[in-house]
Amino acid sequence: MARILTFSIFRYNPATPEIPPRLQEFQLDETPNMSLFIALNRIREEQDPSLMFDFVCRAAVCGSCGMLINGRPGLACKTLTQDLPDRVTLMPLPVFKLVGDLSVDTGVWFRHLNENLEAWIHTDKVFDPKAPEERMDNPLAHAIYEAERCIECGSCIAACATANMRADFLGAAGLNRVARFLIDPRDERSPAQVFEVVGTDEGVFGCIGLMACDDICPLEIPLQQQLALVRRKMALAALKGK
Ligand code: SF4
Ligand code: FES
Repeated sequence: MARILTFSIFRYNPATPEIPPRLQEFQLDETPNMSLFIALNRIREEQDPSLMFDFVCRAAVCGSCGMLINGRPGLACKTLTQDLPDRVTLMPLPVFKLVGDLSVDTGVWFRHLNENLEAWIHTDKVFDPKAPEERMDNPLAHAIYEAERCIECGSCIAACATANMRADFLGAAGLNRVARFLIDPRDERSPAQVFEVVGTDEGVFGCIGLMACDDICPLEIPLQQQLALVRRKMALAALKGK
């Protein structure tokens, strides 16, 4: 027999601050292979059209559907209700600006991060559109791709104790981004130049090692390894003085 699920959903609209934040309950009959995306859409269509949440791709690609699912950050489109108990509490991701209910603005946070890290290839080479593509070894291309897989969903940031305490912390997503450019030979910045930006409490020294990010990342990016790589490169740069 199909289960009846009870969803306890955070409700608050910053545009109507006179209505205080609250948890609202909705009940829904479970259907086979129902994802939280389907459940939330049904709740919105059948019970409350004012419910706010974000989805774009429904395939764990766009990163927009991050939320706290029974207290754990995750992607709603990738989460099946069959893997959850009868009662499900849904809250917006902390750290990010609340748009309303389950919708948060991760875009501003990540834009600031990418600007702060200057997350693009720095080179003095003049671009020649007619030149053949530069060759790259497969293992190196794979390592860069591994870091590039981040979909900026914000789950690792929401799960991070430091990011919850200090707004300027780069978090695992930021340090993963740093690792991506440190290993790319096309980027002519020296590790010491990168260290100037991330060798602070806002960067590598802000991590207190709880490693929730590594457990949480829905893309299973090895965030612990990426942090270790950044720390190793930074230590080498400090020893060599360049
Ligand atoms: S590193 Fe993983 S958890 Fe963090 S933002 Fe990227 S995809 Fe999401
Ligand atoms: S809707 Fe795109 S990641 Fe979930």
